[in-house]
Amino acid sequence: MNQEVRVFDTTLRDGEQTPGVHLSADQKCEIARALEAFGVATIEAGFPASSPGDADAVARVARAVRHCEVAALARCCDPDIDAARQALADAADPVVHIVLGVSDVHLESKLNISRADALRRIDRSVRRAAQDGAIVQFSAEDATRADRVFLRQCIETAVCAGADRVNVPDTVGFAVPEEYGAMIGEIVRFVDEGVIVSAHCHDDLGLATANTIAAVRMGARQVEVTVNGIGERAGNAAVEEVVAALHVKSIADTGVNLPAVQAVSRKVAKATGIDVAPNHPVVGHHAFAHSSGIHQDGILKNPITYEFLSPHAVGAGDHRFVFTARSGRNAVAHCVRGMGFDPNPQEMDHVFRRFLSAADTQMGLVPQTTIAAIATAVCGAAAT
Ligand code: KIV
Ligand code: ZN
Repeated sequence: MNQEVRVFDTTLRDGEQTPGVHLSADQKCEIARALEAFGVATIEAGFPASSPGDADAVARVARAVRHCEVAALARCCDPDIDAARQALADAADPVVHIVLGVSDVHLESKLNISRADALRRIDRSVRRAAQDGAIVQFSAEDATRADRVFLRQCIETAVCAGADRVNVPDTVGFAVPEEYGAMIGEIVRFVDEGVIVSAHCHDDLGLATANTIAAVRMGARQVEVTVNGIGERAGNAAVEEVVAALHVKSIADTGVNLPAVQAVSRKVAKATGIDVAPNHPVVGHHAFAHSSGIHQDGILKNPITYEFLSPHAVGAGDHRFVFTARSGRNAVAHCVRGMGFDPNPQEMDHVFRRFLSAADTQMGLVPQTTIAAIATAVCGAAAT
């Protein structure tokens, strides 16, 4: 694995835009410390011009975090940029993140400015942001629906004015992997080698992770992600999915401490009140649970049959078996033996028949206490 990719975490900014979520400054600092321990390269802490509370939260995160960059968002206007610079004043490594909508629909319907005005704003804003030596990232909002020639002009203007990084957001989650990858590849080819091209994908079509991976394959050197994939509408690319995929496929090294992802996921779920779906990749409660007899039998013989990624590699502990009417005899026998029973083959037949009849009449999972009661009834007390 020779490619290195920076992880730009925007849980505290784009993630906090999840409908109904609000994080206090204390919560932002706590999550920021967990993200720092996880090993992300940049923490986007918020949007200081949006409210005095967020300006304060960004300033506190900037003071709390010492081992990674802290970024703050600003629109392309002086007050936003000054608010971001001020909030980042105490950051060890500040990043001013400037955004401007560049698609025609954003220019005409939202901003009511011409393309020429947009280029002037980009130039002025990037220069202002770069004044104190902060790293400057320019985001071409709605890039995937923008005119390609104009997008190139926006990016070239930003780079010429001093932007160190250019972000190419799929703001509305409209792209598919081949087109997003091709677009990133084109930008990587025309910007200077020193300029980092960043991928920022939303999940409206369920493609945020796939698009992000496609971007890395085509030369993006930064991925913008949120913990548990939280964010506006259908959310952002999920950090746990992106870093696991880059790791498993040996595409790039992200420098993160993969096992720490469980703790950060739980912390974000608790602070935001947004539960992780049980079937969520990598961090969902069922991500490493096996229920059907065919799968359980395979796992017992060799875990790789159904687990290309060890749960230990991502801090999820041991895999688990759950028992339903689709579970298998081998798994039930394994469970019963694990409880200290030693059934002979006839007893095991009997245990399994009684298990199936319980499973067929009981909706959902058969608890281990039921399996223990069946085994006790058939085999007597378990060895202690
Ligand atoms: O989705 C988006 O375009 C954004 C920008 C602010 C980078 O979140
Ligand atoms: Zn976004």
